[in-house]
Amino acid sequence: MSSMTAPAPRVSLSAYAPWTDRAGRVSGLKLAAFAATLAPAVWIAWLWASDGLGPKPLTEAIHLTGDWAVRLLAATLAVTPLRLVTRYNRLILVRRMLGLATLAYAAIHIALYCAQQGWEVARIATEIALRFYLTIGFAAFVMLLALGATSNDAAVTRLGAARWNGLHRLVYVIAGLALFHYFLQSKNDVTPAVLWAGLILTLLGHRLLARRGFGRSPLALLGLAAGAGAATALIEAAWYFGRSRLPPLDVLAGNLDFDFEIRPPWIVAAVGLALPLLALAARRFERAR
Ligand code: HEM
Repeated sequence: MSSMTAPAPRVSLSAYAPWTDRAGRVSGLKLAAFAATLAPAVWIAWLWASDGLGPKPLTEAIHLTGDWAVRLLAATLAVTPLRLVTRYNRLILVRRMLGLATLAYAAIHIALYCAQQGWEVARIATEIALRFYLTIGFAAFVMLLALGATSNDAAVTRLGAARWNGLHRLVYVIAGLALFHYFLQSKNDVTPAVLWAGLILTLLGHRLLARRGFGRSPLALLGLAAGAGAATALIEAAWYFGRSRLPPLDVLAGNLDFDFEIRPPWIVAAVGLALPLLALAARRFERAR
């Protein structure tokens, strides 16, 4: 028997850098996504250092990091619809990074909250247990941690594709809880929470269409944009009715007043229009090739 052993496969560390693909080559797409996920943190830190966060910088930073956690969650959920509509499969390269960035911003958000509470563990635990909106945020964070801990190739192999996919479907529960936390902590004005609820609803709606084979149909995607806009208006009306008994018809009518601002349902419908337009552009491009 030969005493020679096969040389251990060489694993290049560069293959693990956030800006390289699996072969260790620099990927422009990953580099751009990495810079984009880092930019808000740098911006918030810069604002803080230059006294640009107002009289309560810690509170403002808690809000900004919470906002970015939700935005990055939406960006993570946008990868699959965009990939399906455009058939630009390389987008999958950035999904894990966006998911981990969501977790990182949520962790900073919570660390800032703990700092605000003077790192008093008993007080923080009591607050989280007693204040419903914090309990909801905590539940979302625990699930995010579970997804973050299993966002690596070793975990996919260990769990097997079916169980891994099942576990990662928790992202829909996380989205629901994070949005609920967003709504609950809003004081009088839920406009930003309504907007992100509508945008995330569009992305989830696309999955339902895709499952029925309409994920690239311009007409179905047009219907999705209109439906998501209408659903956004209904969510807002239902929220204000549940919270303050505001007449739903008055809230719905507010969407037709364009004097001060454009309300979330219109923005959601306009952003949703990007999907049928992208589908048409992708079809043209495929035909031209
Ligand atoms: C233990 C878990 C969490 C704690 C203790 C926590 C704490 C807080 C606090 C104290 C606020 C500000 C409330 C106020 O000023 O009245 C807030 C707002 C917010 N949180 Fe969290 N949070 C948690 C988890 C999360 C998670 C997991 C997300 C998203 C993925 C998130 C997203 C947000 C958002 C979007 C806001 C509103 C920001 C704004 O008003 O601009 N939070 N959270």
